[in-house]
Amino acid sequence: EAWLERLGAPERACSPATCERRERTNVSLLIKNGEIVTAAERMHADIYCEGETITRIGKGLDAPEGTTVVDAAGKYVFPGFIDPHVHIHLPFMGTLTKDTHRTGSQAALVGGTTTYIEMLAPSRHEDLMAGYRLWNELAEGNSACDYTFHIGVSKYDAEAEAQLREIVADGMTSFKVFLSYKGFFGVNDEELFRTLTLAKELGVIVTAHCENDELVAQLQAQLLAAGRTGPEWHEPSRPERVEADGTNHFATFLEITGARGYVVHLSCAPALAAALAAKERGVSLAIECVVPHLVLDKTYAERPDFEGAKYVMSPPLRDKRNQKPLWDALAAGLVDTVATDHAPFDFKGQKAMGRDDFTKIPNGIPTIEDRVNLLYTYGVSRGNLSLERFVSAASTRAAQLFGLYPRKGTVAVGADADLVVYDPNYRGRISATTHAMNVDYSGFEGVEIDGRPSVVTVRGEVAAVDGKFVGDPGRGKLLRRTPTS
Ligand code: URP
Ligand code: ZN
Ligand code: ZN
Repeated sequence: EAWLERLGAPERACSPATCERRERTNVSLLIKNGEIVTAAERMHADIYCEGETITRIGKGLDAPEGTTVVDAAGKYVFPGFIDPHVHIHLPFMGTLTKDTHRTGSQAALVGGTTTYIEMLAPSRHEDLMAGYRLWNELAEGNSACDYTFHIGVSKYDAEAEAQLREIVADGMTSFKVFLSYKGFFGVNDEELFRTLTLAKELGVIVTAHCENDELVAQLQAQLLAAGRTGPEWHEPSRPERVEADGTNHFATFLEITGARGYVVHLSCAPALAAALAAKERGVSLAIECVVPHLVLDKTYAERPDFEGAKYVMSPPLRDKRNQKPLWDALAAGLVDTVATDHAPFDFKGQKAMGRDDFTKIPNGIPTIEDRVNLLYTYGVSRGNLSLERFVSAASTRAAQLFGLYPRKGTVAVGADADLVVYDPNYRGRISATTHAMNVDYSGFEGVEIDGRPSVVTVRGEVAAVDGKFVGDPGRGKLLRRTPTS
């Protein structure tokens, strides 16, 4: 390609077969002529990277022979994007998500995401430490992008507490709790209180899925008893107030314990109001939205012939009137991050498990590959989000909240050379026929996108070019973190 020229002899690429340690110490990369955009500023400058790190930023930089040079004229250069909420390995609702780290990380990279945070989610019937080992084994050597874990707390007893302390000491400094899915992932109030108390002591942030589980169970039973079994009944079984109640409940527990919290996949105006009211009274609560709630609405789950099952996730896709308040809060910086909650289940064979009973449809919408392009298209391109807020929500804020900043989440000397050269002039359509995710449908089939990454680098190495993965499949590193205050 014209924009990707090599000066002199290229360095041998690191591959699983040839490199034991996948560290890049003797290669260099120059990205020139682009417009760098961070959460704080925009500037036209070149970026020079030695090994895995950005070492110079300035105008008209030169590079030694052997440097890989990317011409970013007419393009933006963003920090590598961070998805703070993904499920790669998720045993859930009697089945297992379809992606592996191999497929999920390559899909992430094609879409500009260079780091993801996976939910380590053993059920309350499993041993947490065994889960930690398993989740690590599945990722190690298989992920092409960098990754780390939120530690799922699905029960709390003396053994779990000791294990949590050990895992935090190993560098995993965020927890995940579910207020729903009781009996499987969900914690009761005593466990929630003890988890938050420990988190406060250790300086760990707690992420939470906020829905009132009892209300969901009662509404599901009522609907099924009335013969309302299709996917269109998923939303009425988990209405907005149920999520607002869960959000308020979590916020109250944060307030009493003094812990720091983060509500995941906040979907609607009443839940937003509950979260903002808590912030207003001084509760430390960050807010995550996910792309499906910003772009899709509940009419998708009402599509006939069980097609709606593709759009079943929790909290559910909402009435469209909820989207503007979410976008406005995002633009104002009141919503911190935009993630995916990537949870890929095939339509055939998996979503189909709930054909006669919507409560058995595996919850989730695969989005890891499309998050950045959809946020750019519906946010920046449509005038809902400035470029700086886009970078903050899709990268910087997650790095700050979860202890990755400034190594990740910005373009700065000393940061990892995770960079996305983004072409705002690209036009294309999302389709399951071309996506890299290992799942048989796209919730965004046919949606037009207004831009895409031209070149994506992970720690100085080109990993994706124009929608294709070209990197080392196992180069991703586990990111150990220290608690943030
Ligand atoms: O529907 C969803 N969100 N599936 C994944 C599990 C979760 O609740 O995050
Ligand atoms: Zn959830
Ligand atoms: Zn999730």
